[in-house]
Order: sequence, then structure tokens, then C-alpha cells
Amino acid sequence: MKKVLFVASEATPFIKTGGLADVVGSLPKCFDKETYDIRVMIPKYLCIPEERLNGITFLTNFYVDLSWRKQYAGIFTKKVDGITFYLIDNEYYFAGPRPYGNIYEDIEKFAFFSKAALMAMQKIDFRPDIVHCHDWQTGVIPLMLKECFRGNDFYQGIKSVMTIHNLKFQGRWELQKVKDVLGLPDYYFTSDKLESYNDANYLKGGIVFADAVTTVSKTYAEEIKTMEYGEGLHGLLRARSNDLRGIVNGVDYQEFNPETDKYIYKSYNARNFRKEKIKNKRALQEELGLEKDDKAFLIGIVSRLTDQKGFDLIDCIMDELCGENIQLAVLGTGEERYENMFRHYEWKYHGKVSANIYYSEELSHKIYAASDAFLMPSLFEPCGLSQLMSLRYGTIPIVRETGGLKDTVEPYNEYESTGTGFSFSNYNAHEMLGVIRYAMEVFRDKKREWNKLIDRAMAADFSWKRSAKEYEEMYDWLIK
Ligand code: ADP
Ligand code: GLC
Repeated sequence: MKKVLFVASEATPFIKTGGLADVVGSLPKCFDKETYDIRVMIPKYLCIPEERLNGITFLTNFYVDLSWRKQYAGIFTKKVDGITFYLIDNEYYFAGPRPYGNIYEDIEKFAFFSKAALMAMQKIDFRPDIVHCHDWQTGVIPLMLKECFRGNDFYQGIKSVMTIHNLKFQGRWELQKVKDVLGLPDYYFTSDKLESYNDANYLKGGIVFADAVTTVSKTYAEEIKTMEYGEGLHGLLRARSNDLRGIVNGVDYQEFNPETDKYIYKSYNARNFRKEKIKNKRALQEELGLEKDDKAFLIGIVSRLTDQKGFDLIDCIMDELCGENIQLAVLGTGEERYENMFRHYEWKYHGKVSANIYYSEELSHKIYAASDAFLMPSLFEPCGLSQLMSLRYGTIPIVRETGGLKDTVEPYNEYESTGTGFSFSNYNAHEMLGVIRYAMEVFRDKKREWNKLIDRAMAADFSWKRSAKEYEEMYDWLIK
């Protein structure tokens, strides 16, 4: 049996702020169970809804020494869909209404979590062949693994993988402060290791010290080696390019299935969507107070409201767009200016725009099922899961050709009748508007063509099967 421990700051079904949680919660289920024992470790935040912790059991507790601090850590466990989750408990670090807060607090919080995760392995006697780290919150693990457990046989030979879900977030903070938090020798705080532009940088540490580095699509793996997308680390990523691979994300096809989804108004599948999908549209229009109009081109958006997702482009062309027979159903939270922007347009275009500024699993599924198209004009996108969920529900993605969006949405070609969505290349509002109008025309004037687009979208396979194989191959290569 090959053993792998995922360590991450969030995972479904416990706690989710974005796609990271979907990946960490669903990918482990898709490995070959005869050969791979994949387990997951996350923090036990106080904000995890209580019902998600039903049936959880306490295993043991210990103290984590972090620099001059000594902090309590408890280990709890729960099995979900056959996967063993471990949750690290510490009510001082993991309090608060959200997993993340001020960066200076998070720096210490995740240093603690990283060290605790490594120590926990021995406490529960689960020695993985590979510790698989996700994003900056676990970036110091590969380095701690090499430095902190030198004389301890248990840890010898454990390999580490660093997966970058979003290079924008690196976990950077003042060098002196981080030295105090980690308590590692000065040797580690140089520009070839943790130091980066005068700060300490957790993700950089992970990229330098991990045995393999991955990111979540092939295109993003190439992009981050360039100045434009490299977020200051392109040089390092180029240097590590032999050990860097892009493995595209999948989605949980059990959870996201229009045939069995309990959240949506009317179930449907690839054979009967022509009749049934529209019932979801009508019900959503009703629920959100949109005009009841089958012919209106209903565009969905489910997203963190941040610069990454291209909302300034939407702002730019909103008035022109609303001159068309379109509707916009938005679900998201994030930066205040985008939250207010959508509230403003809802007020201005009442009955055409619905701004739902909160988090709701249920409404997200309803929007994926009910919309005609899904808009995701990201500035950059490591992979993106929303467009994959849309494809699964036969909702046609309109995306910018970047990162994983480029790898997963094949642009419509009217001459060959191919493609699963619409895309544009430059980060330009009118280029986007042109493509939205084009999609709208196909929807309005060429129903048969539109339905064939849906056929192809629903036939596209972004379950985890293929990508899990690629992770398996990488694990095998590391272990041999
Ligand atoms: P990112 O991880 O950059 O936020 P992804 O597309 O990879 O983007 O994943 C986003 C995930 O979060 C999807 O599962 C999406 O449905 C979900 N999501 C985002 N905002 C909300 C919200 N307000 N309510 C419910 N789900 C949301
Ligand atoms: C990040 C990225 C997103 C990706 C997700 C899961 O949040 O922004 O593109 O799909 O991680 O890997």
C-alpha cells in the first residue's frame, strides 16, 4: 500500500472558501483504493458547522514546539465516503468566523498547523510515503520535514509534494517576525530559500524544498514561468521546471450531477435537458425576482468577488449588456467594491440582474443548473472549477482563454460544429462583450446549434479519473 497524507487549510465537506476545498475533499476518493491509502489533514476550525462534525472521535493530544512557543494540539478523526480525515484542534489558533484573517496571524497559525501535522503522523502512527502539501498555508512543511526531524527515524525518506492552487497567495511576512515564529536557523532565510523580496515567503519555501511541484492545469504550469503570471516567482519556477507539472482539476461527479442533485428544482440529464433544464430556469427566475422570460439569455456567475475573476471587465460593459435581452444571476462574496457594484446593478436593472451577496451551496447548484451560460472572464485562473460544474450541467461557459479555462473550455466553431463554450483572448471588456453577444445570437437564432453545444458540454468528462491517474504516476515516480 502506498500512503499519502494530504495537508491543507480547507476541505469539503468540513470547510470551504473556494476551489481548494473541493479539490482536497474530492480528489482522495478517486485513487485506486487497492494501491493507495490517501488521508487528509486539516485544521479543526471553530467555524466548522457543528453538524459536519457529527461522529467525530478524539484520538490523542500533544504539544507542538514552535520556536519559543509550546502549544496544545488535539487530533480528531472522522471517515467520510471512505476517506479518513484528521482534524487538528487548537482553539486559540483556529477560532474566529473564517479560516483566514490577518496575514500576520495566519503566518503563525499555519506554522503551528504545519508543524502539528508533521508531529501528528508519528502520534497516530501513520507514516506516509508522501506528504502532499496544498498552497502557501502548508508551504513550510517540506522544509520542516527536512530540518526539524533530523534524528528521528520515523520521518526519514518521507517525500513531499507542493501543489500550487493559486500563486497569487504566497504567505509573505516580515523576515524577522517569521524567524521568530518558525525558530529556524538564519541559514533558511536567504534568497535561495525562504527569503523573497525582503520578506519571508512560505510558498517559496515549499517550491524550493518539495521533491515535486504541481499546479492545477497545464497552461497555468507554463504561464507561471513568465513574468506576467509568475507573481515574482517565475525565476524559481523556471529553475524547478523539471520537477513542475500541471495536472488539471476535476469535479466530484457524484455531488455535481443534474440527474441526482437534491438542491436543484428539476433533475435532468444529457437526454432530456431540452425539455427539463428550462424548468430550472423558470423556477430560478421566480425565486430571484427576475422577469419570467424563456427567451432572456440567463447568465450565471458564482464566484469569489475578487480582481482575479475579471469583474472590472463586467463593470465596464454592464450598461451595454443590459441593453440586450439578457439576465444576470450573481452569487458571491468578496471585495466590497464588487459586492456593491452588483447591488447597484440589481437596483438599476431590477428584474434583469439579481445580486446575491452571500455564500450558499444550494443557490450555487441552482444557478449552475438554471442558467443558459456561465460567465468567467478571469484575469488569471489556475484551473477553475465553476466552468467544469457548468459544463456538467449543460450550462455553456463563456471564459477568457487563460490557465485552466483555456484547457477545459473548447471554443465553439460554427463551421465544424465543435466546441463546448465561448472564449476570448485579450483582457478587454469589449472583446468579452462581443463574445457574449455572439453566444446570445446562437442561443436566440440557432436553437439546434445551441442544443448541440449543450450535448457536447455534457459529454465532456472532467471527473477526477484521468487526473487521479496522473497523480498516481507522480507518486510512483517519487516513491521508487
Ligand atoms: P476559486 O477557487 O478561485 O474560488 P474555483 O472555480 O476553483 O475558484 O472554485 C470556486 C468554488 O467555490 C466552486 O465550487 C464554486 O461553486 C464555489 N463558490 C464560490 N463562491 C460561492 C458562493 N458565494 N456560494 C457558494 N459557492 C461558491
Ligand atoms: C484556486 C484557483 C482556482 C482553482 C482552485 C482549486 O483557488 O483560484 O483556479 O480551481 O484553486 O485548485
